[in-house]
Amino acid sequence: MQSAYDEVADSYADLVRSTEPEQRIELAMIEHFASLLSGDKRVLDAGCGAGRLLPVLAAMECLVEGVDLSGGMVRRAQRDHPTFATSIASITDLPHPDESFDGYFSWYSTIHSPDDQLAHVFGEARRVLRTGGVLLVAFQTGHGVRDVSGAYRSHGHDITLERYNRTTDDLSSVVAGAGFEEVARLERQAAGVHERDGQAVLIARAS
Ligand SMILES: C[S@@+](CC[C@H](N)C(=O)[O-])C[C@H]1O[C@@H](n2cnc3c(N)ncnc32)[C@H](O)[C@@H]1O
Repeated sequence: MQSAYDEVADSYADLVRSTEPEQRIELAMIEHFASLLSGDKRVLDAGCGAGRLLPVLAAMECLVEGVDLSGGMVRRAQRDHPTFATSIASITDLPHPDESFDGYFSWYSTIHSPDDQLAHVFGEARRVLRTGGVLLVAFQTGHGVRDVSGAYRSHGHDITLERYNRTTDDLSSVVAGAGFEEVARLERQAAGVHERDGQAVLIARAS
């Protein structure tokens, strides 16, 4: 997965510069997330990719930094968004101390984590959030594994990349088990020719 994102990093970053793929209702969920934050609004963009959402969160008065497992993605984030701190790290093993953040933002970055890793990922999210902090997770809905290599092969990249789809109830239950209380959820159907699955955004508060 990491080497696949290293390979596609430049295409990804060139193709999607900002929030072009997001619907207004999804942007409203991001705004809602930001509005629920208190304190300094320190936010970790966990799985920030090439960093396109760092300025979006900053415009909502978040003090945001990013981590991503792919060095290629982080290199592009540092080139395209040099005013933000970004580094290579895994959401399974974050380098930050306990309670470092008021918000944890995961925009389609848990979709490559297998089911048996999810409880650990959200446990790590809970660890770096202070009590009362807010988690946002965006993901494709449904069941099972999808081969998503084709989308990148059409841009000339010979990679293998799989994604794990989940129902919102299943994801919410893992999040609850990690010490969060659900605040809000959005579910929508697949849209346009490029989306095969529905999408969801879940917001929960660290209890
Ligand atoms: C679909 S991309 C989304 C990137 C970014 N959030 C965006 O919306 O543009 C998924 C990202 O999650 C990152 N990722 C996947 N597993 C990760 C992990 N265990 N730790 C950190 N990043 C991870 C990938 O490297 C990739 O950049």
